[in-house]
Amino acid sequence: MTYRIAVLPGDGVGPEVVAQGVKVLCALEAPFGIRCELQEGLVGGAAIDATGDPLPEATLQLCRDSQAVLFGSVGGPKWDDLPPDKRPERGLLRLRQALDLFANLRPAKLYNALIEASSLRPEVVQGIDLLVVRELVGGIYFGQPRGIEPDASGERGINTMSYSSAEIARIARLAFDLARRRRGRVTSVDKANVLDVSVLWRREVTELAGGYDDVELEHQYVDNCAMQLIRDPRQFDVIVTSNLFGDILSDVAAMLTGSIGMLPSASLGGTVGVFEPVHGSAPDIAGQGIANPIATVNSVAMMLQYALDESHAAQAVESAVERVLNQGYRTADVMRPGATQVGTAEMGDLVCAALNDTAASAG
Ligand code: IPM
Ligand code: MG
Repeated sequence: MTYRIAVLPGDGVGPEVVAQGVKVLCALEAPFGIRCELQEGLVGGAAIDATGDPLPEATLQLCRDSQAVLFGSVGGPKWDDLPPDKRPERGLLRLRQALDLFANLRPAKLYNALIEASSLRPEVVQGIDLLVVRELVGGIYFGQPRGIEPDASGERGINTMSYSSAEIARIARLAFDLARRRRGRVTSVDKANVLDVSVLWRREVTELAGGYDDVELEHQYVDNCAMQLIRDPRQFDVIVTSNLFGDILSDVAAMLTGSIGMLPSASLGGTVGVFEPVHGSAPDIAGQGIANPIATVNSVAMMLQYALDESHAAQAVESAVERVLNQGYRTADVMRPGATQVGTAEMGDLVCAALNDTAASAG
């Protein structure tokens, strides 16, 4: 099969880690017969510098014409003083909206080899396997009215958190469907003790649960959920929540597993999915060749699974990553005494080599 993939490296460490994801995609040709036609597009600060727009029309068109998008990261100090609507991040937000990617899947799984890298004790984190399902095109990120306007005291900043029942139902339904294929537990996270929008959220999710007898539903307030993630993360299977809460909680979940450099994501909903590492552009380490590419490599695995229906290849990529970690190779973010430290590109090469080994031994 030949797949058309849009590649948007973006800013900071984005290009470095995306190059490894691309390497891994290309390494799938021999063992799996998967061929990819890759086309690069500009996004974020890189696109602002080249065209003045963080999401040029050509990039959006490229994404629309592709079967999946591999995305790096956007943003950096160079563009920090731009107004919100002109910032690199806006390119990503507009892309999510234009492609109607209402569901952001962020799995957090602890590799046994990395148990020491977590900031929590091994007995607390051992065996973590949870999935944050974050609503991605609604809520306070997109609600109207918004902006900064004059006010008697000077100025007033405004954002609006709003969800319709239809928006809540579609993300909740997906969470329930995913839970069915996992351990059958959904934790819906809101702030229904304070926010009206959360009262509606809780009502809709509860109503929907009626159609899923085989899934157990629990509600948590977002502050409690943040605490529970640190206290006892193994209680979670699927967490479903709104855009802003999901943004925050998925960073917490990521850190449990040792490094945010490990965590992949899939943004789904429309016809074309976007696959990107959860981490940002990490300007402090950009250009040094030390960023962890595993989040991007695992995002490629999610692309294979969710967009290309190549679950064998997806599994092979995941096993290759695990194998390299078990062999003791680590990037700086998860380095520990006795392990072998490698850079971004070397890690990509190791995963490709492991992929070939696995394929060879599987016959
Ligand atoms: C994320 C990021 C983005 C978000 C930024 C870069 C716009 O933090 O994907 O989690 O807030 O959604
Ligand atoms: Mg975030």
